[in-house]
Amino acid sequence: MHIHAYEKLWLAFAVILILLLIGSVTYGAVGPGVAMVADSEDQIDPGALDEDERFAEPRVEQVGDNHYAAYVIAYQFAFEPSPIVVPENSRVTLYVTSRDVIHGFEVAGTNANTMVVPGEVSEITVEVGEPQEYGLLCNEYCGAGHHGMEGKVHVVSEEEYANLNEGGETA
Ligand code: CUA
Repeated sequence: MHIHAYEKLWLAFAVILILLLIGSVTYGAVGPGVAMVADSEDQIDPGALDEDERFAEPRVEQVGDNHYAAYVIAYQFAFEPSPIVVPENSRVTLYVTSRDVIHGFEVAGTNANTMVVPGEVSEITVEVGEPQEYGLLCNEYCGAGHHGMEGKVHVVSEEEYANLNEGGETA
C-alpha cells in the first residue's frame, strides 16, 4: 500500500500529539507539587469515627504556640462542629473526614478548599486574621440535601475565644 508523504507527515504529527497529551497527563498526575487527598497515609474507618481519638469529639484544640487544630466531620448534610470557632491571628490546621460519602469543604471567599473522602483525612493549614464569620460550603454533589449542606467558621477575638473555653467547652 502506498501512503502519500503528506499522509505520513500528518500521521506522525498525530502520534506526537497523542504522546504529548499522555506525557502532560502523566506529569500532572505524578509531577512535583501535585498531591491527591488519597496520597495521605492517614487512613481511617469512616464507620468507626466514634472510636477515633481525633474525631470522636469533633472540636478545635490548641496544639502549639498560636497553633490550633480543628477536627471536623462532614456528613449528609452538615459539618460538625459548626461553627468552627478559632481565635484571631492564629494558625489553624484543619483535619476533615467524612462519615459517609464524598463531600467538599470550602471556606467561602478564601482559598481553603479540599475534597473530603470517606476513609481519608484531608489536612489543610490556614493563617487566620481579624475576627470574621465565614460560610462553609460543600462543593461535591453528595445527595438530595447537597445544596443545603453548609456550616460556619467563626474567627473570634482572643478574649472571646478564652471566654468560650472557660466553661470547659471547646467550641
Ligand atoms: Cu456534602 Cu455536597
